[in-house]
Amino acid sequence: SEQLTLQTDFVTLTRFILDEQHKVGTAATGDLSMLLNHIQLTCKFIAHNIRRATLINLIGLAGAANKSGEEQKKLDVLGNKIFVDAMKACGKVGIIISEEEEEPIFVAGDGKYAVVCDPIDGMLQLRYSADHVGSSNLDAGVSVGTIFGIYKLPDDRDHQVEDVLRPGKEMICAGYCMYAASANLVLTTGNGVNGFTLDNSLGEFILTHPNLRIPESRNIYSVNEGNSVYWHEPEPYSARYIGSMVADVHRTILYGGIFAYPSDKKSRDGKLRLLYECFPMAFLIEQAGGIAWNGKQRILDVVPKGIHARGPVWLGSKKEILKAQEIFKKYD
Ligand code: AHG
Ligand code: MN
Ligand code: MN
Ligand code: MN
Repeated sequence: SEQLTLQTDFVTLTRFILDEQHKVGTAATGDLSMLLNHIQLTCKFIAHNIRRATLINLIGLAGAANKSGEEQKKLDVLGNKIFVDAMKACGKVGIIISEEEEEPIFVAGDGKYAVVCDPIDGMLQLRYSADHVGSSNLDAGVSVGTIFGIYKLPDDRDHQVEDVLRPGKEMICAGYCMYAASANLVLTTGNGVNGFTLDNSLGEFILTHPNLRIPESRNIYSVNEGNSVYWHEPEPYSARYIGSMVADVHRTILYGGIFAYPSDKKSRDGKLRLLYECFPMAFLIEQAGGIAWNGKQRILDVVPKGIHARGPVWLGSKKEILKAQEIFKKYD
């Protein structure tokens, strides 16, 4: 008889999270599992609303700006609200840091974790002229995403902002969800990287990319050549730049290559924020076997000076970053 192609022993993210908890043994309280399940719910909710964004008039400006001086899009505000409400509801979070929140949110109770988040990444503003704010990637149907990272909080004193001004290497978990043709959630808890695809009919993220490893090398580079001098390479490289960090990093993990957002005259520290863009992506890239560097040092060793502090980013395939480091040495 014809072999049934329907897979029946699939792993959902919910099951994966519990399996990870069981690996820790009885010491695990289940708090991180509860937190991660609230994060996956948030991603499902955002995915659902993004799909309908144009239909429910979610496109366009919210009429306010965030701490990074960017006009907030309605989706930035909605994504932020969904995330903050879920983090408050799960009862496991003591501090919430969001790109769209000027100050840290201290949550009453005994939450043991700090969560840093870029609720909607890739909503960059393409400004055509002084008065006309262009449409963002989303309006053009380009993938956007949510980025998150988790620090464990000290449990012997009240929480304070210094509890998140720590190097990225102290994060215990990081991930992103990319809202594309399907919603792809990629996660690390320090034991490698796993990718899940949302099955809309089941409402579950299914494990589709177990133990993701980034190719050692790949002739793809991803940088906004508009604001940087690019390299002259012996063999031709392909330029792939979407302008949505989640989409550019996801492609880099799957296909290899180098993604960069260097510092330049316009942005002395680069554009991407350390806590909720550089650190989670650097953690994932290292866990997938790649390198994440800021032009001087390992990104995960950097200590952020403020919750919205920025940093230069060079990340991707090991051999491609080593090549970039050689070039830096030559011109230093
Ligand atoms: P966000 O939408 O969270 O503000 O992030 C936008 C970022 C990031 O997604 C992307 O890599 C970068 O902006 C693109 O910047 P440029 O348009 O300057 O290349
Ligand atoms: Mn923004
Ligand atoms: Mn972003
Ligand atoms: Mn954002």
